[in-house]
Amino acid sequence: MRIYDTGTGPQREPEPDHAEAQHAARVREHIAAAVRGAGGWIGFERYMELALYAPGLGYYSAGARKLGAGGDFTTAPETSRLFGACLAQQCAEVLIEAHRGSILEIGAGSGRLAGDLLEFLEAAGTPPRRYLILEVSADLRERQRAHLQARLPRFAGIVEWLEAPPPDGIDGVILANEVLDALPVTRFRWDGAALEELGVGLGDGGFAWSARPAGAVLDAHCRVLRAAAGSAWPDGYESEYCPRVAPWTAAVTGALREGAVLWFDYGLPRAHYYLPQRDQGTLLCHYRHRVLDDPFVRPGLQDISAWVDFTALAEAGSAAGFEVAGYTTQAYFLAGTGIDAHLRELAGADAHRAARLGNEARRLMLPGEMGERFKVMAWTRGFDRPLSGFALRDLRHTL
Ligand SMILES: C[S@@+](CC[C@H](N)C(=O)[O-])C[C@H]1O[C@@H](n2cnc3c(N)ncnc32)[C@H](O)[C@@H]1O
Repeated sequence: MRIYDTGTGPQREPEPDHAEAQHAARVREHIAAAVRGAGGWIGFERYMELALYAPGLGYYSAGARKLGAGGDFTTAPETSRLFGACLAQQCAEVLIEAHRGSILEIGAGSGRLAGDLLEFLEAAGTPPRRYLILEVSADLRERQRAHLQARLPRFAGIVEWLEAPPPDGIDGVILANEVLDALPVTRFRWDGAALEELGVGLGDGGFAWSARPAGAVLDAHCRVLRAAAGSAWPDGYESEYCPRVAPWTAAVTGALREGAVLWFDYGLPRAHYYLPQRDQGTLLCHYRHRVLDDPFVRPGLQDISAWVDFTALAEAGSAAGFEVAGYTTQAYFLAGTGIDAHLRELAGADAHRAARLGNEARRLMLPGEMGERFKVMAWTRGFDRPLSGFALRDLRHTL
């Protein structure tokens, strides 16, 4: 198995402790029962859904630590307050127009971004009317609550956790950082003449990839993906696509009346995502800050994700009645929302702090780090003012 950690070369694979190993065994048995119950085969989308979201068992449903030093991965808001400072600037532009609108954050992780946004927006004189959080993980909800209670008790009256997307109208901003990549994906293989769906069966050593002829819906969809790639896929080409992008995004953004939706994630436009040379797809697993490529080990203990097809996301936005108002890289978004000025302001006269923030800014912005892999897309409804995050470089023409 390939195993690496950015910049440090091959590493020894981290081992789960006894309790974790027992948890993984329970998750494995739960999924194996689903495979047996389905006659010996489930699609990968179902496998990923169970591994991430099975009640009380899945990676996001049970108590794994996930974010931060003791967890599995580090996100942009965990890397630096500069991310929140820039995003607050973008939110302020919308909240002012929406007459002190609200923010809905989807998948709020440790709660750090929520805390940063509330602090920066308050300092700018544009606090949101309400800060709503839609979070699937019960333990992360508790972590968010504890973080915000300890850090910003004065905001207790406006922060609210939702069980489901809000049914009533919201004016303001809906945002999600690194949530779309967790939506379960369908895996497929092209054998040069026909398409197969890659699913999961049971082999001697546990779960094993198992192929079936693709159904008509998957076949038709992959024809579109193949055409977007511009040249033929080689025999054995494997990749994935996310059938849930349109229905899920429509459900979680449907309440927005006036304002913007901001999506941050790693991904590519369709024509690049499905290039023939990207012949193993983009599935990634994270476990204790290592990136691994086998989704069948440690089910329930490791995160499983796939890159986002931003063309599909733009299509979903248009279908849901939004205008796709901007698409750019994280680096250009942060530059457009004034990361240099925020760095100077946060550093003040402290040279050590300036150096630390400089390092954090490089992690967020350099092409080999998060700067180019991560993209930002804005959807708007009833809002037609320019958004500064997309002013420096708008890449919508690549979608
Ligand atoms: C990779 S973490 C990112 C956390 C945070 N946005 C950040 O940038 O630090 C993914 C977050 O999305 C949540 N999540 C995953 N799937 C979700 C879903 N379908 N609906 C709502 N939240 C979800 C997870 O529990 C977690 O809080």
